[in-house]
Amino acid sequence: MMKKLIIANWKMNPQSQKEAKKLFSGVLQASKGENKVEVVVCCPFVYLPLALEFSCGRKKIQVRWGAQDCFFEEKGAFTGEISPFQLRDLNVRYVLCGHSERRGLGEDDEVVNQKLKAILAAGLCPILCVGERAEEREKRVAFRVLEKQVRVGLKGVAKNKIGKVVIAYEPVWAISPGGPCQPDDALTASLFVRKIISQIAGKKTAKGLKVLYGGSVDPQNIEDFIQGDWFQGALVGAASLDVREFAGIIKRAQLG
Ligand code: PGA
Repeated sequence: MMKKLIIANWKMNPQSQKEAKKLFSGVLQASKGENKVEVVVCCPFVYLPLALEFSCGRKKIQVRWGAQDCFFEEKGAFTGEISPFQLRDLNVRYVLCGHSERRGLGEDDEVVNQKLKAILAAGLCPILCVGERAEEREKRVAFRVLEKQVRVGLKGVAKNKIGKVVIAYEPVWAISPGGPCQPDDALTASLFVRKIISQIAGKKTAKGLKVLYGGSVDPQNIEDFIQGDWFQGALVGAASLDVREFAGIIKRAQLG
């Protein structure tokens, strides 16, 4: 079984370096000695240098750093944007791509695709976030939405690079403060995503793919999603801002 991937998405939190340091230190502590789990922290851009500084000199650092977004160009006159190459220079390994909160601000599948390709070009690992909104679920078009998000998101990506992409299935309505998705409904969606990937890149790539679940994950429900290798990890928002909760998730993932 492959290592489980537990990714913290701090979103636009916390509000001070002092709090960020406290969180970093808690996550490092909670990840010590965990060898069946890869822990990643996607913190705001402004805390990445701090994260790096924090892990410097700690030889056996088990936590990897991630960003929550980036731009699709390498460099140039793009005021306010961050290049994946700049992220690579900060030792960032993962970048969230197409999170529903960014899609909600107007990012469409085409932009997500451009970003995903730029992340790969910089040698980083994109986490392609997909998932239907509540109204799409009610209208029973969730699978159509997922298919488009996956197909357009991966458009033009070489087949041998698709295996480097991590997919996070996050039904938008299940993101906190919503409730979590029923684990077997999430599994059905993830199998559908794998089927699409297998049509695009072949069965072997689809089988080896890491698919994560995201949406109100906590220490009490994580096992329901990772049981029997249903999901290969989780993308955790609110609970990742509470060190005890996040440590609980890492512990359970280690056992699961
Ligand atoms: P949540 O967020 O765990 O707070 O539901 C998940 C996400 O938005 O990635």
